[in-house]
Amino acid sequence: MATPSWSPSSWRDRPAGQQPDWPDPAALDRVLKQLSTLPPLVFAGEARALTGELGRVAAGEAFLLQAGDCAESFDGFSADAIRDKLRVILQMAVVLTYGSGVPVLKVGRIAGQFAKPRSSPTELVGDVELPSFRGHMVNDIAPTAEARAADPERLIQGYHQAAATLNLLRAFTKGGFADLNRVHAWNQEFVASSRQGRRYERIADEIERALRFMRACGIDLENEHQLHQVDFYTSHEALLLGYEEALTRRDSITGDWYDCSAHMLWVGERTRSVDGAHVEFLSGIHNPVGVKLGPAAEPDEALALCERLNPGRVPGRLTLISRMGAAQIGDRLPPLLRAVADAGHPVVWACDPMHGNTFTSPSGHKTRHFDDVLAEIGGFFEAHRAEGTWPGGVHIELTGDDVTECLGGAEEILDHHLATRYETMCDPRLNARQSLDLAFQVAELLRTS
Ligand code: PEP
Ligand code: CO
Repeated sequence: MATPSWSPSSWRDRPAGQQPDWPDPAALDRVLKQLSTLPPLVFAGEARALTGELGRVAAGEAFLLQAGDCAESFDGFSADAIRDKLRVILQMAVVLTYGSGVPVLKVGRIAGQFAKPRSSPTELVGDVELPSFRGHMVNDIAPTAEARAADPERLIQGYHQAAATLNLLRAFTKGGFADLNRVHAWNQEFVASSRQGRRYERIADEIERALRFMRACGIDLENEHQLHQVDFYTSHEALLLGYEEALTRRDSITGDWYDCSAHMLWVGERTRSVDGAHVEFLSGIHNPVGVKLGPAAEPDEALALCERLNPGRVPGRLTLISRMGAAQIGDRLPPLLRAVADAGHPVVWACDPMHGNTFTSPSGHKTRHFDDVLAEIGGFFEAHRAEGTWPGGVHIELTGDDVTECLGGAEEILDHHLATRYETMCDPRLNARQSLDLAFQVAELLRTS
């Protein structure tokens, strides 16, 4: 898979975009050394299991739901926030599975999604030029020179927050919270009262009735662990390569390298150069990996990435996440689908309908319109239908909170509502009702594809 000279540090010989300007390199080295001695957050076997599951998606037998925050915060860190995010993802998965009959693979943008690429390394605040905010694992968002200085101690804090988040996710998904018997209880207050919430209640009723029916038939549901536990995987953008390198460990069973900071890692639109440091790093780890592809991506680039990241053509190893924008997907995606299919690469195709549809509203908020998000997903399904390929999944920025960051949806959030609860540190996220609404619509598309 990797070039013969690959090592966890071979990325250092290549140009690495989007790396912070760490003011004290010796302090950074100390932190990275410390991180390399800390326990792995995930195990190689789990990452391998995810590759297997993604292989089913690549084969058209399952659907990927990858979702979570644009950027996790050190400030809003609480058990409730993690629970609410998990809950909305579980609800979406129920809607998708029940509505389409297709198994849904759940992967969070969570437990490590702390670092952000920026379009410019600095920004003007008043007439002062400050380093841009790069996510809580690098600096703070407050507009002062002190807060914006990159601080490597934040890498350690990010590691510990990821560990605590993952611990709670494991407890929730294996310890009873995700039990299908609780399908009603996931419908939290502010969602339940909405139209989508009531629609969800009807599905929950039907699932409950089906479970009662099976019990009455004498089926021993207690021993069906699929009904009581959920497999939930973690992912984030592999942006800060020093951090990722420090968490890369050799698997004692296979001898292969795994980045044990998350089950799945992806590279973003700004760092996906086939000769760059980020792709070099991903090429040698054995986790399942992803690459974002924006509207500038050409078929030969997509093919070069497939060859570089998955020369062994392992199904599930590589997920290509298109983020074209609603206006462009119809033109830009089909040539990529065709080229990859013609070359026989078994990729998962996922649709990120968020990052190509961001704009600044008249009130000055960075936002997205729910209709554009849906339109891009519609275009994604249409392109796959035309090419005879499998629309493998969606990649969504959402929160379990009742925020007002994206326009539209059944609540019809308008520009003058955005200021009410605009809480994101980075990109605008769908709130829980909008997320559920989206799941119903995607289930419909999936049912007919
Ligand atoms: C993101 O996923 O938050 C992101 C920055 O995406 P992209 O690399 O596609 O712009
Ligand atoms: Co984002």
